[in-house]
Amino acid sequence: MNDNVEKPWGGRFTEPTDAFVEAFTASVTFDKRLYAHDIAGSVAHATMLAKVGVLTNDERDAIVAGLAVIKTEIETGKFEWSVALEDVHMNIEARLIENIGDVGKKLHTGRSRNDQVATDIRLYLRDELQECVAELTRLQTALVNMAEQEAGTIMPGFTHLQTAQPVTFGHHLLAWFENLKRDHGRLTDCAKRINVMPLGAAALAGTSYPIDREYTAQLLGFDAPTENSLDSVSDRDFAIEFVSAAALIMMHLSRFSEEIILWASAQFDFVELGDSFCTGSSIMPQKKNPDVPELIRGKTGRITGNLMSLLMLMKGQPLAYNKDNQEDKEPLFDTVDNLRASLRVFADMIPALSARHDNMREAARRGFSTATDLADYLVRQGVPFRDAHEVVGKAVRLGVDTQRDLAEMSLEELQGFSDKIQQDVFDVLTLEGSVAARDHLGGTAPAQVRAAVQRARQWLAAN
Ligand code: ARG
Repeated sequence: MNDNVEKPWGGRFTEPTDAFVEAFTASVTFDKRLYAHDIAGSVAHATMLAKVGVLTNDERDAIVAGLAVIKTEIETGKFEWSVALEDVHMNIEARLIENIGDVGKKLHTGRSRNDQVATDIRLYLRDELQECVAELTRLQTALVNMAEQEAGTIMPGFTHLQTAQPVTFGHHLLAWFENLKRDHGRLTDCAKRINVMPLGAAALAGTSYPIDREYTAQLLGFDAPTENSLDSVSDRDFAIEFVSAAALIMMHLSRFSEEIILWASAQFDFVELGDSFCTGSSIMPQKKNPDVPELIRGKTGRITGNLMSLLMLMKGQPLAYNKDNQEDKEPLFDTVDNLRASLRVFADMIPALSARHDNMREAARRGFSTATDLADYLVRQGVPFRDAHEVVGKAVRLGVDTQRDLAEMSLEELQGFSDKIQQDVFDVLTLEGSVAARDHLGGTAPAQVRAAVQRARQWLAAN
């Protein structure tokens, strides 16, 4: 880093910046990642300035060519970033002037770093958001594929983590698909509010040059220029919205991770997680730990923390731009990196999960999971539901005392609880009968799961 640089804003200063203050106020160490979007914004700005006659076409061409050279310098590691030049914007501008001379000084006409940085973050986030959406749909596709395979697999469904009623594993997987579908909607909705262009707001009040904001917006692929210059340089809602959507996604991935961790334990033993997604222990030779879902569960905290950081960052700021806003970048970048990585590894991990059908079935059988089916059977024989509930409760009591499931009792034993019970009761006490009976939209019956898989595939094809 070359620190003996004159500041682009040095004109009104007589004393140099304190060395520690210089480092304290600089953002280049982290905002240099915006370089490509910063350059794209500058190219569009210069092109617009030439269109309205503020720059000549030759000046525009020199600037555009100079920026292309800088991009290459950065991408080949030849660019020297300087903390004294504070941020990505001034580093690139200073280098442009160094390379192409005085004409480079005209680039910043009718612009401020305030509208520049607001534009850069929107361009950056617009791209990253698309990558996140792509990983999200890849994960959703993996879930739908597995749900189709597991449409008829019986497992216990839980409430309070106690065996409740039998469900199909495919149905359970599609529950997560629905969660992620809402997340997908939140991301794509947030994208609309990201894609508006602050350039032209300049420092805060707009500029006295005859700029054409619609044109610049069009060049950069924005839907429209922003409406109000003060709002343009101060608004970070779009970043908060994104991080909020990310926090919800991570919350979902964390819950799903928690299930995978439980299912992979010796106590449940419902799934086997592929070796490539686990690690061993340095002391206990028998261990195979589900590190990937654990780490995703862990990362949920930092992304929720990033959301809190951004909300608190904004809450005290008067209009318009304040230096506080420089603090928006690290939480945002951290969120993007960890969300993308988590979605990616999750999408890869789903096909590496294999279900242990026998263990799932056995767990459903052991937990009196068809007790509600027996109550519903009695209701169909004319017994009021509350009385039926009482009768079945007594039968379960006997099952607990004698360590038997309801389906393992004799007809005579069951008739001891209610004379309405006939031989056909055993049809509803089976696990297959129980899930097949829940045959309505949103129910767990294998036929419903297969229909839901078809709808999910249509949704995936359209999104
Ligand atoms: N590095 C600054 C940021 O990230 C750029 C804008 C600085 N503007 C200013 N007036 N100091 O927010």
